[in-house]
Amino acid sequence: MIIALDGPAAAGKGTLARRLAEAFNLAYLDTGSLYRATGVATLRAGGDPAKESDAVKSAQTLDMSVFSPSDLRTEQAGVAASQVAAIPGVRAALLDFQRNFAKNPPGGAAGAILDGRDVGTVICPDAPVKIFVIANFDTRVARRVNELREKGENIIEARIRADMEARDARDSDRSVAPLKPAADAFKLDTSNLTADEAFAQAKAHVISKLKTLNESVPPRAAKPE
Ligand code: C5P
Repeated sequence: MIIALDGPAAAGKGTLARRLAEAFNLAYLDTGSLYRATGVATLRAGGDPAKESDAVKSAQTLDMSVFSPSDLRTEQAGVAASQVAAIPGVRAALLDFQRNFAKNPPGGAAGAILDGRDVGTVICPDAPVKIFVIANFDTRVARRVNELREKGENIIEARIRADMEARDARDSDRSVAPLKPAADAFKLDTSNLTADEAFAQAKAHVISKLKTLNESVPPRAAKPE
């Protein structure tokens, strides 16, 4: 059982992925954290995230254990991530880890859910369930601003707006693994949905998809909310 969950920045993937992981007893991999870590590692080494040799070296020697979640969730890390993510050698270096996680989920989980940009198109193109989450630009900016302010980051909204615009363009226009829905992805627009509503719709989709694929729904999915 693999769920591929893709979409642009701040569309609500992380929250949704965590809840689906819990409901269906799946191991969760936030694939963006690998690109964020590669970007931060490159900056820490005094390199340039947009320079191929610097970024590829960081990806090939990546040690996730040296980063705390707060190191990776800054806006600077997000921008560096989208720069390293446009470099084919970086994507190649991170591919095996992601596929292996999907194939052999850790901790005895029933399967895996991976969120990112290319999980349904490149990493796990055969995933039985694919969800592509979207939200309009202003909603995504507002969510990211709230998230960063709640973490105590001193940010300027106009800067976040400009960063997100640049990041969207880089993620969608890059030649390798651009952000786009897989042909068989369920599209979920969360612009006017609460987190609970988005979860309810995604969960209903997973259950109906599993039924049509004639797979059994893991027992925890049947648990009442
Ligand atoms: O999802 P998140 O905002 O943490 O991702 C940070 C950046 O990493 C994205 O803007 C994107 O450029 C890159 N990324 C990617 N492919 C993935 C996950 C993230 O290119 N599967």
